[in-house]
Amino acid sequence: MTDKELVLIAAEASRKAYAPYSGCKVGAALLARSGKVYTGCNVENASFGATVCAERTAVFKAVSEGETEFEKIAVTGTSEKGDIAFYPCGICRQVLSEFCGESFEVIVAKSKNDFTRDTLGQLLKNGFSM
Ligand code: THU
Repeated sequence: MTDKELVLIAAEASRKAYAPYSGCKVGAALLARSGKVYTGCNVENASFGATVCAERTAVFKAVSEGETEFEKIAVTGTSEKGDIAFYPCGICRQVLSEFCGESFEVIVAKSKNDFTRDTLGQLLKNGFSM
């Protein structure tokens, strides 16, 4: 699966986002080592802290289906403010680090043809583990 293909799946997932408060509709596509792709979108809540990001939705869907080994994730979305690079927030980086090693790839697409690729190790230094 190419990065571009995963970005397109994330873009499709962003259409399902429930984001009446921020107007940011975010989608994530998480490729498991099994070859299966798990999608997620952000689901906001009137009690803002109860909001869940697209990345965590995808991780929790995957883990709840029995997957714990992952290769890469693509994240993209739309905002009323124009093209935004939706880099995973700190909580999502920590959640990813529970299952993914430092070489896990995080693809963030500002638009379909404009994306960056970082390793989780670059995005999260000294993630907490026990
Ligand atoms: N959001 C995500 O779903 N993923 C990110 O990578 C960053 C932010 C969501 C959370 C919230 O619903 C909205 O975008 C604005 O922060």
